[in-house]
Amino acid sequence: MYNLFRCAVIIAVFFVALCGGAGAQTAGGPAVAGRLTSVSGPGAPGDPLPSLKDAFRNDFLIGAALNMSQVEEKDPAVSALIARQFNTLTPENNMKAALIQPGWDRYNFEQADEIVRFAAKYNMKVNAHCLIWHSQLPSFMAGMQDADSVRHYFTDHITTVAGRYDGKVYSWDVVNEALNEDGTMRKSIFERTLGDDYIVEAFRLAQKAAPHTQLYYNDYNIEHDKKRAGVVALVKKIQAAGVRIDGVGIQGHWSAGHVPLQDIENSIIEFSALGVKVMFTELDLSVLPSPRGHNTADVGQHSDYADALNPYVNGLPDSAQNLLADSYAQLFQLFMKYKDKIGRVTFWGVDDGHSWLNGFPVRGRTNYPLLFDRQLKPKPAFYKVIGTAK
Ligand code: G3I
Repeated sequence: MYNLFRCAVIIAVFFVALCGGAGAQTAGGPAVAGRLTSVSGPGAPGDPLPSLKDAFRNDFLIGAALNMSQVEEKDPAVSALIARQFNTLTPENNMKAALIQPGWDRYNFEQADEIVRFAAKYNMKVNAHCLIWHSQLPSFMAGMQDADSVRHYFTDHITTVAGRYDGKVYSWDVVNEALNEDGTMRKSIFERTLGDDYIVEAFRLAQKAAPHTQLYYNDYNIEHDKKRAGVVALVKKIQAAGVRIDGVGIQGHWSAGHVPLQDIENSIIEFSALGVKVMFTELDLSVLPSPRGHNTADVGQHSDYADALNPYVNGLPDSAQNLLADSYAQLFQLFMKYKDKIGRVTFWGVDDGHSWLNGFPVRGRTNYPLLFDRQLKPKPAFYKVIGTAK
């Protein structure tokens, strides 16, 4: 069955290639759609696989985080799936500071340029991720204490990178994860050396370097009361300084059965009342047990492996599959209720096999957080999500 599916997808990709790159976006056209998906529909062979980006085309953008092997199109079946399902992408890692600026005076734009080319080929928007973050910093920044040096890096990095991609990417996560859970400022290298105003300054520099690019603040757990209040204060501060901020990204690393729907709804209302768009930027729903104390996407925190924490090595039981599907459905029903306030919903990955949640917060687990399985086949959650579109 899986081989049949892959064959069908590969044939479709060649067809798409014959029609020209950007034509892949119109894979929604009946002929290609049938070929792409005839073996994997909800029921009978021949049922066409719906497309997320088409289903929500009048509502919000639909995206996925991509790794370099996907951008380099190592697997035609994956390329076809991405082209058919998503109209925006976020580089999962390859526009982060450590990769794009490996040396004090040295940038490497090769991968970022490839990402922009891939997006243009498939008529996708790029949400570039991210300019200022305390994690995945270049190694030369490790242990840097001197404020002048940090300021030099900070100014040069934002100006150079945002400037280069202005007009080529749609948006930037200008500042990522700058707040603690209680809404106070995280004591990052930037806060310690440049002070609390570094965030306003980051947006000011980005605005100057990238006047045609949407500028966002992005963070996890900001749907919760205290952290949400921190974001509201931050946005107001940026606006009061006369600096542009276009949106807030709620990451959305949640667990099936425990999605904080009320907090999310409150956040959509409160953030949009500030005059900014709300984005769901890194959506995935873990189905695995959380080791105690892990309610976070803080990449610094790992727990030890235990078999009890990895119960679905041989596949996901129906009960968990249904819980996942229902959680996704509730979430998308909420997104649809507020579609006028939501700019984009991006999944943090394409398929379960390539999710960061197989390695976090416990390494070596088998997780199932996305809409496509390890064979690239749509899961029940996919159909539930599609079902929420009008
Ligand atoms: O590329 C190297 C490879 O050369 C090396 O052999 C290997 C050994 O560990 O590491 C590879 O780098 C890894 C990288 O992902 C690429 O796969 C890093 O170790 C690993 O730490 C890194 O993890 C990424 C994480 O951010 C790092 O902070 C995840 O893929 C990525 O999904 C995750 O994304 C973050 C968002 O940027 C911000 N919000 C939270 C989200 C999830 O943590």
